[in-house]
Amino acid sequence: MSYQKAYNHAIWHPEAFWQQQAEQLHWFKKPTTVVDTSAYPTGRWFSDGEMNTCYMALDHHVANGRADQVAIYYDSPVTHSKSSLTYAQLLEKVALFAGALRAQGVGQGDRVVIYMPMIMEAAVAMLACARLGAIHSVVFGGFAAAELATRIDDAKPKAVLTASCGIEVTKIIPYKPLLDTALDLAMHKVDTIVLLQRPQQIADMQSGRDLDWDDIVAKAAPAEAVPVKSSDPLYILYTSGTTGKPKGVMRDNGGHAVALHYSMGAIYGAQPGDVFWAASDVGWVVGHSYIVYAPLIAGCTSILYEGKPVMTPDAGAFWRVIEEYKVKAIFSAPTAFRAIKKEDPEGKLLKKYDLSSLETVFMAGERLDPPTYQWAKDIIGRPIVDHWWQTETGWSICANPVGLDNLPAKSGSATVPVPGYDLYILDNDGQPLPANEKGNIALKLPMPPGFLLGIWGDSERLHNSYLADFAGYYTSGDGGYRDEDGYVYIMGRTDDVINIAGHRLSTGEMEEVVGGHPLVAECAVVGIHDEVKGQMPLALVLLKAGAETTDAALSKDLASMLRTQIGPIAVMKQAHIVERLPKTRSGKILRKVIRNIANGEDYIVPSTIDDSASLDEIAELIGPNT
Ligand code: COA
Ligand code: AMP
Repeated sequence: MSYQKAYNHAIWHPEAFWQQQAEQLHWFKKPTTVVDTSAYPTGRWFSDGEMNTCYMALDHHVANGRADQVAIYYDSPVTHSKSSLTYAQLLEKVALFAGALRAQGVGQGDRVVIYMPMIMEAAVAMLACARLGAIHSVVFGGFAAAELATRIDDAKPKAVLTASCGIEVTKIIPYKPLLDTALDLAMHKVDTIVLLQRPQQIADMQSGRDLDWDDIVAKAAPAEAVPVKSSDPLYILYTSGTTGKPKGVMRDNGGHAVALHYSMGAIYGAQPGDVFWAASDVGWVVGHSYIVYAPLIAGCTSILYEGKPVMTPDAGAFWRVIEEYKVKAIFSAPTAFRAIKKEDPEGKLLKKYDLSSLETVFMAGERLDPPTYQWAKDIIGRPIVDHWWQTETGWSICANPVGLDNLPAKSGSATVPVPGYDLYILDNDGQPLPANEKGNIALKLPMPPGFLLGIWGDSERLHNSYLADFAGYYTSGDGGYRDEDGYVYIMGRTDDVINIAGHRLSTGEMEEVVGGHPLVAECAVVGIHDEVKGQMPLALVLLKAGAETTDAALSKDLASMLRTQIGPIAVMKQAHIVERLPKTRSGKILRKVIRNIANGEDYIVPSTIDDSASLDEIAELIGPNT
């Protein structure tokens, strides 16, 4: 079906469109209701259907001829090891680990926090939870103990699953001390800790509380997949919003499975048996959707890569993996390609590898800037697809759907809305804007399958954060425009969310950390452009009366505070001491204007500004000419 036909069908007849997609999956009880739009606040998909995501991802394929196909390759340049599991082997491991968790009292609806590096067991843990109907919440390894504690307190897990360490290039990151600190900081007491000992670092175990992964598996009996309702939660994934408190994005089982299955064919052009590689991390939504669930539900072979695009050992790492596993489609963040470009601008390393299996390169997580797009296109010689999505949607909102059509790409554009998404560019009063005018990117309700069920533990936050601005629409938080051909250009966040090296973080949360420095009276943290990481935080700081320090000393202190309180991924660019912060007369800091000045963008001085001279000072300090 062509893109336009599929798009129109999904918008005009969503029930028929998505029912057709749902019919391609194995349900224990087929849904009779496609979408229940009366369900508060955005609709429930396939609400009376019963299924199990793990069953769809594994058992179904084992029973239908894929038992001996590799389900996941594990490739770890940081430990110099490689392995693979066929669908049958992965199912066996998952069923046993699910049995082990069940023996610890984990059951349907219980939360399980997974704090693990990029190893096969992380995928096993996620699928085992899904098998039991337990709700997993994976926490990215690059977060500090305090962030892990916040998530533990919010999700209130029955169990936490971890490993003794992660490995960052050559550095061993001991996970257990981080987890122990988080457990001390958290109010919620966790009954069960299960730890996988990795040979690179043996962790101390707390007797009576900590269980050894291999021990409990050795004693376990395999667990069958538990039928769950389509709208039961599969996972909670915390993501940064505008406040310090991360949002627990809750995803359902059925809508998620249907959307991901559809996306593999329509967007990625991947067929069962193809090798699909998302070079991301299971701690992010890309990892949930496209390392674990989507490739498996679609009967593809996935790759779990414990390495970096550069340094493990060099900027040829991606090309080596593509050659070795005959990857058909790769998906990563532009920052990863910028890192490769910096090391190997002419693509000399690429020429050493056979990339004949590769058909398409997908990028997301941040804006794909035209120079990086052009560079990747020239040196890889394959279509480069920039596609836009969010943790909230679980799959892409805009893309060049290569499985449906051969739409011409336009540099700087994420192409067109994917079937299922009714996209509008709205002005601040909620009125649709004409072509080429920048505004708020909003999506008309109901959202397609896969969209978040709600925010865990806060029934009002979905409405307040996303639906309150424009009645009948989901507000994405991104700004952009559509051109005269309907192509969508995503220009960046309109709120306080930034993307550092593809990691989504909140400047609001950073301000809370910066504000905790003993010499700081007030501050503003904004994201500014960075050559490799895309964006980095810059802090403007007003000192307390009588306090004395320098930019350099303060930058060092704040970088270290961000690292210990948020995590090493919250890398600080610079802190500047200022005499005053630009504010409105009501005292609101003009963060957007500061951001515009720092990035050399046009800005409008609001009529409500209190002291316009403060802007000149800021421009002198952080403007593009300084
Ligand atoms: N566990 C522990 N620490 C981690 C970590 C993890 N999972 N991930 C990153 N860190 C640490 C790094 O070791 C580094 O620490 P350091 O300051 O002590 O060296 C710090 O966090 C910053 O890491 P990172 O943001 O990864 O920057 P980098 O300079 O090490 O690498 C890139 C830059 C571009 C190579 C890397 O960020 C990358 O591959 N990004 C892609 C991100 C991605 O896939 N996003 C998902 C969207 S598709
Ligand atoms: P995350 O929830 O971590 O996936 O981050 C989502 C945010 O990343 C979006 O709201 C955008 O700001 C940004 N983003 C993701 N993909 C793209 C893209 N292709 N182009 C521009 N920004 C993107």
